[in-house]
Amino acid sequence: MRLYRKEGNTVQILCFPNERAEKGDYLQIEDPKQGKGFLIQVIDVQFANIPGILEELLRDATSDSDEINGRDLDPLEVTSQITIIQDARLLLCKIRGTIQNGKLSGSSDWLPSRSKSITKKLATPTLATLLKITEKMPIHVGETKEFSPLKVDATALDGKLNIVTGKKGTGKSHFSKLLVLSLANYGAPVVVLDLNGEYAQLGLTSDGKKSPHYETIHVLTPASNFKVGLAQIQLRVMINILVHALHLPGTSTQEFRRIWRFLKEHTKLSLHELGEAIRNRQCNHHVKDALFSRYYTLVNSGFFTDDPADAITLEDCFTEIRTGGVLIINLRDTSFVDRQIVVEYLLGKLVEMLACWKMKAVFLFAEEAHLYLRETYWNDIVTRMRHFGVFTTFVTNQPDTIRENIYRQADNIFLFNFTNEHDLETVSRAAKVDSETVKSIARDLPIQHCLLLGRVVKDFPIVVKVRALDVQTMGQTRLFFA
Ligand SMILES: Nc1ncnc2c1ncn2[C@@H]1O[C@H](COP(=O)(O)OP(=O)(O)O)[C@@H](O)[C@H]1O
Ligand SMILES: [Mg+2]
Repeated sequence: MRLYRKEGNTVQILCFPNERAEKGDYLQIEDPKQGKGFLIQVIDVQFANIPGILEELLRDATSDSDEINGRDLDPLEVTSQITIIQDARLLLCKIRGTIQNGKLSGSSDWLPSRSKSITKKLATPTLATLLKITEKMPIHVGETKEFSPLKVDATALDGKLNIVTGKKGTGKSHFSKLLVLSLANYGAPVVVLDLNGEYAQLGLTSDGKKSPHYETIHVLTPASNFKVGLAQIQLRVMINILVHALHLPGTSTQEFRRIWRFLKEHTKLSLHELGEAIRNRQCNHHVKDALFSRYYTLVNSGFFTDDPADAITLEDCFTEIRTGGVLIINLRDTSFVDRQIVVEYLLGKLVEMLACWKMKAVFLFAEEAHLYLRETYWNDIVTRMRHFGVFTTFVTNQPDTIRENIYRQADNIFLFNFTNEHDLETVSRAAKVDSETVKSIARDLPIQHCLLLGRVVKDFPIVVKVRALDVQTMGQTRLFFA
């Protein structure tokens, strides 16, 4: 490989047919005289456009017929040279830093010698060592191109906001499961908002046996084994449910507050009593109708119960996962409105627990969050709730459902394949690395391969083939012809 051009932070390298280099690979341009080298990453591979190449190719195509006539067209035996030139490739690379005395710095303000410098591949494990990306708590995420394991540090996810995104079926949920299990293994409490019921079998191995994690994984299904009594709910949370999920107007909300306080004072907070209180209330009939319709939505959600034997205390569930465990909220068979009610309740409780230090922090995994998270929660999650210790990972195949300010706050982006220009554009604007890199590499990522961006890789984008997990997968699409 030879250094050909440098423009800004872009470098072009000539690569000959016997040398292999692919998108995402890291190379090192060593200048022995100056005693330092550039660390660069291949972001695109093209043919080298040499003057006269078109003519040469055309001549090649016609020469085949001449050979049949027995004429030797290559008396000087230059064909092999010409094929090398024809197959030579040009690697478009981005400068990621300078390596000097085995140390990496971000500078790129010098120029290596074009004639003397040596360009060679830098194996990903070497890079990982150089970057010191695993120090304390390694999470084995997968294999590099050299078939060596790539491990990232769990602490690079701590206190962070992460996004897992890519096309459907590329392995996002699988990757999230890997993170969930690894974090729980290190003793972290994890909550998963599981939209499709894909995480429910996380405690079982692929052949249906109990895995070592079995005891630490708890699945809560709303209206089934996840019901709550009204007395456990704070008025503030209930009002949030009524206003944000059920769109109760202001005057009716005031009335509801009065009813709730009255019932609470007389320790009569129950669904039954609430219904009676609304029925007997002397108030405007519009207000009464509004309250009744919301009341019936609450009742019909099946999420609330008056039977103490039926109700669970979420505090106890959180306590169980406090020293490492997973709480999966299975939202699969829950309607749009009911999902919002459940999530509103859950997040309310979570913040309550964290605020009084009953828990240190929680890792929250949210699949397709736009389907249950209300508008104002998005900003809350990246600011206020993060401050309380809710560290969120959004998982989505629709990157445009996550607002730009969320992306800007994201510490890690785990990017899977995207082919759609619009999606690529959205993600590339958000990542902390240049958009060309993101677009070019993500477009050609094979499935189950992930481009790691952000803190986990110290802002040096690395491609990894995500490792398999021995858990029961439920992400498969249901098929007729199978
Ligand atoms: N790295 C991997 N190794 C083995 N199987 C995988 C891997 N990634 C994904 N899968 C499988 O591929 C299928 C689709 O993956 P999934 O994570 O559900 O995709 P997505 O969430 O992006 O739609 C699942 O059956 C999953 O088990
Ligand atoms: Mg999925």
